[in-house]
Amino acid sequence: MEVEKAKKTYQKPTIVRLQGQLFDKHGSSGNFPLREKIDGVSVTELVQKYGSPLFIFSEATIRKTYKQTKEAFTSRYPDVQFAWSYKTNYLKAICAIYHQEGAIAEVVSHFEYQKARALGIAGEQIIFNGPYKGMEALRQAAAEKAMIHLDNFDEIADLEKVADELGHTVCVALRLNMDTGIQPHWSRFGFNLDNGSALAAVKRINSNNKLKIVGLHSHIGTFMLDPNAYNIQTQKMSRFLVEIEENFGCNIEYIDIGGGFPSKNRLKGIYQPPEVVIPAIDDFAEAIVSGLLQNLGPDRRPKLYIESGRHLIDESGYLITSVVGQKSMPDGCRSYVVDAGVNLLFTHTWYDLVVESGIPTKGLPEPAILNGPLCMNIDIIRDSIMLPRLQKGTPLVISPVGAYNVTQWMQFIQYRPAILLAGENGTVDIIREAEDLTDIERREKLPDRLAL
Ligand SMILES: Cc1ncc(COP(=O)(O)O)c(C=O)c1O
Repeated sequence: MEVEKAKKTYQKPTIVRLQGQLFDKHGSSGNFPLREKIDGVSVTELVQKYGSPLFIFSEATIRKTYKQTKEAFTSRYPDVQFAWSYKTNYLKAICAIYHQEGAIAEVVSHFEYQKARALGIAGEQIIFNGPYKGMEALRQAAAEKAMIHLDNFDEIADLEKVADELGHTVCVALRLNMDTGIQPHWSRFGFNLDNGSALAAVKRINSNNKLKIVGLHSHIGTFMLDPNAYNIQTQKMSRFLVEIEENFGCNIEYIDIGGGFPSKNRLKGIYQPPEVVIPAIDDFAEAIVSGLLQNLGPDRRPKLYIESGRHLIDESGYLITSVVGQKSMPDGCRSYVVDAGVNLLFTHTWYDLVVESGIPTKGLPEPAILNGPLCMNIDIIRDSIMLPRLQKGTPLVISPVGAYNVTQWMQFIQYRPAILLAGENGTVDIIREAEDLTDIERREKLPDRLAL
């Protein structure tokens, strides 16, 4: 028996052109990168203690990125307030870190609104965006004096009804969309500035005393690579502010420029590395503030809200997964199966995620595919990657995965894994337990007549 176990499985030999140790255009030799620790905590020990796969977030990186980003804006403008974009990552522990750092909440549904309230955030500290909020949510948000950002004329009518019920005027902001020179235009949300729809919304709201416009909002896109688009955005928004203050007696207390700054992820199809392609956050801050100041008088400094999501969190998140099997494909390419699939990695669609080994590896890199454990052909985490021969059990670290994955992940075929937080002093906390069958079946009902 013992001898049987020690036997290696036979693998049919194939001839593959090895590219390892050749220098690519950037001078790197293609050696497989190693990440044995995350914030000082050993990857191997994490897997031993908490299992595989695992998400882990770095609290130090979250706090550092937040502080740096905030500094880029507060060093240029006197009144800046960040609002954490819940949909980017609404784990309680993650939101709590941003709130501790001073961010308020930015939510886009009643569910997210309730999540922020349950965490202890007052309605007045919540920005409520989104194309559909629902009457119940509008009632709660208006009664709790949340910052409601209107998206369309039907919503204006709905909120007017709520104002009637409450018996007082409700303060609102208008969500605007506009041409900022980038394609595609994000024209789906809010009122268009260029075709007069935004002005029509102001007239409509001003036709009675039910709602009062106190803010202007827009979010021009996500993973924006051109700071100049924000310059156009804030020029247009500040021009509109002046126009409606002069012509309609509005008093605009704040401008909210949304989010959209890129993380250091590598977009598929973009050849150069993120360090070359992604502008510095100071470039975005400069473009935003200079555009804003262009049309405002010297004493006019409305509060500037920023709803950055992806840029703030992406690099703090890692997914640890382990090699569970391998085979040689008919074309000679090696396929590795790991225990985390694309159902956990929504953003793999846009990015070539970085894959590193949690333990030292040996051997020349060869062309490989990284497949997840799902019995689905689409379960490909990286379809073209150079990997040295990896043994079963090798832990791999996939990053940056902090933004949008643990909100857009789905339970499919496999359970969703635990999520950990690496604290600044070497502590590791579970911030979401791994799922089990009870979680998945909790809301299912089996009619008696079908009971087995
Ligand atoms: C209204 C609004 N604000 C903020 C964000 C956060 O965007 P990002 O993660 O690109 O910074 C989004 C995302 O789509 C959004 O729709």
